Amino acid sequence: MSLNLTDSVMDQLLDALVEKGWFEWPKAVSEALCQQLLAEAEFHDQQGQLQTAGVGRGDIHQLNHDIRRDKIRWLDGSSNAQQTYLKQMADLQYQLNRALFLGLFEYESHFAIYKPGDFYKKHLDSFRGRANRMVTTVLYLNPHWQPDWGGELVIYNEDSSAQLTSVIPKIGTMMIFMSEQIPHEVLPTQQPRVSIAGWFRCNTSIAGVIDPAK
Ligand code: OGA
Ligand code: MN
Repeated sequence: MSLNLTDSVMDQLLDALVEKGWFEWPKAVSEALCQQLLAEAEFHDQQGQLQTAGVGRGDIHQLNHDIRRDKIRWLDGSSNAQQTYLKQMADLQYQLNRALFLGLFEYESHFAIYKPGDFYKKHLDSFRGRANRMVTTVLYLNPHWQPDWGGELVIYNEDSSAQLTSVIPKIGTMMIFMSEQIPHEVLPTQQPRVSIAGWFRCNTSIAGVIDPAK
């Protein structure tokens, strides 16, 4: 089960990231691996092992129910499925660095479950000059998603004046975008919606302290 990263997909991905800052990649990750990751996320949900997600990081971390309603669990590589997925993301990181010289040095990611009615209002994942999230990935794990269930990821242009695309959170699809550049939003979902959101980070040290992950 390896990433569906052919030369042709890689060319499309690189062109899209450079030219417009985002790329929708259908069938990026095999359905079998997505099913295993989905089962894991659902298990953690049933066990009450998901946490309320925050907005911002470190000192400015604040719970904000008005902005986002999803529940999350950070991946820690503790299962075969997670290890396989994280290995695939490491391959992608290598390819992105090789082609774009982005200096990505690590990947952090979490499961996210949105229950009916949940959303994530328009936001950026990173703020220019300060943060070190460079490239966002979102992998969707939902088999048989129906278009009228809502829960689309909406991508806006840089000044948020226009909607550029909306992505159906269908199993295997991965959305990749520049974290500082692309405003985006998760519309309210009508059915449980499961994904893995992740960020390739570059290494910034602030006042001599290496910025910790998460
Ligand atoms: C996020 C996010 C989008 C999605 O977690 O920051 O924007 O489609 N997720 O789940
Ligand atoms: Mn986001």
